[in-house]
Amino acid sequence: MSSSMLFGPQNLPLPPKGLTFNKSCLHGTNLSFPRSNLIGTSYDLGSKTKMKTKTLIATKCSVSVPRPVSQPRFIQHKKEAFWFYRFLSIVYDHVINPGHWTEDMRDDALEPADLNSRDLIVVDVGGGTGFTTLGIVEHVDAKNVTILDQSPHQLAKAKEKEGLKECRIIEGDAEDLPFETDYADRYVSAGSIEYWPDPQRGIKEAYRVIKKGGKACLIGPVYPTFWLSRFFADMWMLFPKEEEYIEWFEKAGFKDVKIKRIGPQWYRGVRRHGLIMGCSVTGVKPTSGDSPLQLGPKVEDVEKPVNPFVFLIRFLLGASAGVYYVLVPVYMWLKDQIVPKGQPI
Ligand SMILES: C[S@@+](CC[C@H](N)C(=O)[O-])C[C@H]1O[C@@H](n2cnc3c(N)ncnc32)[C@H](O)[C@@H]1O
Repeated sequence: MSSSMLFGPQNLPLPPKGLTFNKSCLHGTNLSFPRSNLIGTSYDLGSKTKMKTKTLIATKCSVSVPRPVSQPRFIQHKKEAFWFYRFLSIVYDHVINPGHWTEDMRDDALEPADLNSRDLIVVDVGGGTGFTTLGIVEHVDAKNVTILDQSPHQLAKAKEKEGLKECRIIEGDAEDLPFETDYADRYVSAGSIEYWPDPQRGIKEAYRVIKKGGKACLIGPVYPTFWLSRFFADMWMLFPKEEEYIEWFEKAGFKDVKIKRIGPQWYRGVRRHGLIMGCSVTGVKPTSGDSPLQLGPKVEDVEKPVNPFVFLIRFLLGASAGVYYVLVPVYMWLKDQIVPKGQPI
């Protein structure tokens, strides 16, 4: 609901600096473009109703500030994420989700996943406390759904939820999934990519584990354009750009890659501060088998000993940057209350 209300063509937010759409970039429904002109692919900014769905093609619209993904941020490591969620899991559902990831947003983000049969086999990767899984089991039988996460503390919360009692709940790494090739009909991952040291590897795994014709739906943050927000985002974790998601999906072998913008209703479409849950990216697996993409060994060896002092400093710096993003939704909420409806905030 929220994205259709906020990002329908009539309310298209001002383009962020990092992803500029000029007038010639805006087209009507399903307007096709020569492939060579595309920097990304089609940006589905649509709503649940087909009538309202518009496809925005970005052509030379994307001006990126170089920001190599190969330099992980302070919490963009498995060990740091593990400890982050050791503590955050205690309050996650009550403090984090209401500001960043509401039920409305969840419905909106899962809509492109096409959860169109109760018999689908679904994996929810980085499923955490099961907030997204609760949205999945509204459409799919819980016994067909597996929740995987590297944090036993987050999973302990999922295990307490009545609606998830029949789900399979397992510990595992998004970059090395314990499922056979061509296992699932749908891959869903919400709000986890930001912690993956090698996001391309996680997306390649998504490709491998789904069946031919199956769909991956990855919900994640978007990069801020406002300088202060960018500073804290870069200190904290990975906030990919929309074009980065598309590139990772396409490199992994996915076809029909689409990105749908989402955001909390009270932001009124503002994206300059970045969003922890800012888009839902989907892609279809065209043939069975592994991804055509070849990658070397994993970048992060979790078994490797780390200097505890360096680890602590990184952890504290990263976690304090995260506090900024607890405050942003409150700030936006206050603005939404103060500024008259219909005006930009
Ligand atoms: C922001 S939470 C999202 C939880 C849930 N998907 C939701 O929608 O509320 C991110 C989750 O990703 C998990 N995570 C981070 N890195 C991971 C990895 N490499 N493999 C599996 N899970 C990971 C964390 O433990 C955490 O539970």
